[in-house]
Amino acid sequence: MEKITLPKGTKDIGDPEIFIWYHVENIVRQEATHYHYIELRTPLFEHTELFARGVGEETDIVQKEMYTFLDKGGRSVTLRPEGTAPVMRSYLEQSFHIHNPRMKYFYMGPMFRYERPQAGRMRQFHQFGFEAIGFQSPAADAEIILLADRIYKKIGLKNIRLEINSLGCRKCKPQYLETLKNYLRNQAAQFCKNCSNRIETKPLRVLDCKNESCQNILHNESFPIIQNFLCDECRTHQNHLIGILESAQIHPVINPYLVRGLDYYIKTTFEMKTEELGAQNAIGGGGRYDNLSDALGVKGIPGVGFAAGMERIILLLQKQSESKAFFQKPFIYLSPLDQQGENVLLKLSIVLDEKSIPFYLDFSDKSLKYHFKNAQRMDASFIIIAGENEHQTKTYTLKNLLSGEQKVVSQKTLIGDLLEAYQNVKNT
Ligand code: HAM
Repeated sequence: MEKITLPKGTKDIGDPEIFIWYHVENIVRQEATHYHYIELRTPLFEHTELFARGVGEETDIVQKEMYTFLDKGGRSVTLRPEGTAPVMRSYLEQSFHIHNPRMKYFYMGPMFRYERPQAGRMRQFHQFGFEAIGFQSPAADAEIILLADRIYKKIGLKNIRLEINSLGCRKCKPQYLETLKNYLRNQAAQFCKNCSNRIETKPLRVLDCKNESCQNILHNESFPIIQNFLCDECRTHQNHLIGILESAQIHPVINPYLVRGLDYYIKTTFEMKTEELGAQNAIGGGGRYDNLSDALGVKGIPGVGFAAGMERIILLLQKQSESKAFFQKPFIYLSPLDQQGENVLLKLSIVLDEKSIPFYLDFSDKSLKYHFKNAQRMDASFIIIAGENEHQTKTYTLKNLLSGEQKVVSQKTLIGDLLEAYQNVKNT
């Protein structure tokens, strides 16, 4: 029989890469705690209508990329392609807009989009995200961007560019869309089929097209940029946001072509980008979505948030840092050479656990040479050997694999010696 392989666009995440994931996840959780964004775990699947209405019927996500199926009861459900619509669904379902309208949420977990897989683009990928619901102030947009920036820096990422734009609001966007449509109509024949189909229905989507010849038509001096159409309220909102960011030493680049692929945004949109990952250069993005609640049946609940792609962050971190830096260190390799050694070291492992000292216990069906090689391969800091000699003399052999220093320690002093040696290595 043939072996069964992974579905396309998915991945097993294990040793050693999983340690980088722990590093990222720990920082995200720590920052969520500091900023008091409380975790919300929404289901992995939702009613299809949530995304059709929330993300938008005309978006690539809804039109081409959703994992949608009928369940056994004949209901159409969809594996979540993103986290913002589910968070808003939960907020409204629990009527927080009535009794506790200002909520700060965080989430982390798998998302699903049927895209053409390539480096940094998966069909099952992971995001962490933050959503501040119920806040109108541009300072809330600033907090979200500051929080993202803090997380990227603490993770250890370098050379990230922040791009921002404003998509206007109900007052100023319609006039811009008319001007944009006129411009696009005049060039309609030159656009790809997809873009020409979208000129009337979703003109902003044209700005997102990856096709080089479409981009050339758009990057033209006569192209009407939205920045020139913002109303006073939207301009003040953007200026206030940029002012806060600048005072925190964060210097965004305004990109008038940044429209984002989801329909719920108004006013602020932003993306964090890198030059080091090729085409999949966005390692996070977000914006203000004051219209999302309307699409889900409750009028006028403001919100702002962002989400980051964890696979891309990890790819970038692997490029920019030594992967070994994230391994679990130090830890002690316990190497029994016979059955008695196994019993002794199993008991010792309980004491190590109580002292919060990490260990790896191997078993006695291998030679001493194997254990040494394995301990070194695993990057252990110490190895403890328990075999015939050690049982007779009631001692253990403890070797520091970093310095090569080896000593024989008595059963009585073992824990004290280990604690001291462990702390010394941990502090270096
Ligand atoms: P998004 O830009 O669609 O926004 O996704 C956010 C990030 O998820 C992207 O910048 C990218 O790093 C990662 N990502 C997206 N698709 C894939 C994929 N197929 N494979 C790997 N990584 C991917 C949202 O999802 C919005 N919900 C963000 C948001 C939150 N806006 C407001 N609040």
